[in-house]
Amino acid sequence: MPKKIRLGILGGGGDSLIGVLHRVASFINDNYEIAGAVFNADFDESLNFAKEIDVPVNRIYKDFDTLVEEELKLPEDERIQVCSILTPNFLHFPMARKLLDNGFHVICEKPMTTTYEEALILQKAKIKSKKVFAVTHTYTGYPMVRQMREMIKEGALGKIHKVDAQYYQGWINTIIHDKKKRASVWRLDPKKAGISSCMGDIGVHAFNMIEYTTGLQIKSLLCDFNYLYGDNQMDVDGTVLIRMDKHVKGVIRASQVATGEENGLSIAIYGEKGALKWEQEKPNFLYKLSDTEPLQVYRPGHAYNSALSLDGTKLPPGHPEGIFDAMANIYLGMARAIRGEKYNDGEFPTMQDGVRGLNFIESTVASHKQGNIWVNLD
Ligand SMILES: NC(=O)c1ccc[n+]([C@@H]2O[C@H](COP(=O)([O-])OP(=O)(O)OC[C@H]3O[C@@H](n4cnc5c(N)ncnc54)[C@H](O)[C@@H]3O)[C@@H](O)[C@H]2O)c1
Repeated sequence: MPKKIRLGILGGGGDSLIGVLHRVASFINDNYEIAGAVFNADFDESLNFAKEIDVPVNRIYKDFDTLVEEELKLPEDERIQVCSILTPNFLHFPMARKLLDNGFHVICEKPMTTTYEEALILQKAKIKSKKVFAVTHTYTGYPMVRQMREMIKEGALGKIHKVDAQYYQGWINTIIHDKKKRASVWRLDPKKAGISSCMGDIGVHAFNMIEYTTGLQIKSLLCDFNYLYGDNQMDVDGTVLIRMDKHVKGVIRASQVATGEENGLSIAIYGEKGALKWEQEKPNFLYKLSDTEPLQVYRPGHAYNSALSLDGTKLPPGHPEGIFDAMANIYLGMARAIRGEKYNDGEFPTMQDGVRGLNFIESTVASHKQGNIWVNLD
């Protein structure tokens, strides 16, 4: 077994939603150890959390700048090699840029930055640094999503003509209808979240899933948002018509006010020979539809799956693969890339996915604000 990769964590404290997913995912394939962190903006909270989860406190730093400064003083074989950025969105860009400029690999939560301009700057920094960069579009790590990508690549659907991705949640209902509450969460604050709430937070996953599974790019879009209240500056619901080519069209539907919905991400790709459908809340079922044959159901771990899908399955068929496993697969691909080993380009979303994501988010806002017009992506 090669030496563990020294991982730094930024954000993801005990009070956070996503921290536990990254920590567990990093341990699942035995590739990483947490070497240092700034888990919270508040130093004491960070220290207390480190004690709680038994991470040595000597490399828990008071803030991000101190982490970089102090780590650079350490010999290279002790220094943090890769940092996971799990903070609110507005910190992703300054943190990622400084990390790349100082020779660290980066695993960054989505959206990668808060503007497209920042994303392009970061892309240049990444190229200059020659470091590895992943954006954690978690759902691409599911074995059945990987299978979908590989089947489409192999031509199972023939020419694609229709795509449909939906990401419906209802959690913002508990906040949005109360004036005080809606002014208090970072996801509804443009200074912290960027220009979009719903499309920036979850629509961008649906966008990425379409490009990841089809290998095609969305060329233009038309978007209609709902903000629900006049004083709310951030979309909480949106519908996007998309064009990928003259005869390849579809829709992305995203909502944070879809009452009663939990984490309802689903994707369907329709082609001339068949269709594939997958739902995040039932991730171990991939449906293949046909006009001429009975419905087929693909399941993880069977030898009939692609190498990319099987690489993301650790136990024999019948042992459900969940969100922790999906994120662990992204960390595994990243570990291979950091070690300079061979890996499949479907193993983790990259800087290019992050750039496309910001191009998408900004285009949806531009389309809505200019009166629901068609906007071209770069
Ligand atoms: N990939 C996914 O499916 C997915 C799911 C949820 C969230 N996310 C993304 O993860 C990021 C965090 O989301 P969350 O829901 O966990 O947010 P959260 O508000 O629950 O947690 C944010 C954490 O960052 C810490 N933090 C804030 N400022 C900091 C600073 N200056 N230095 C260090 N730590 C700081 C907070 O103390 C907290 O622990 C967001 O960018 C979000 O879009 C991704």
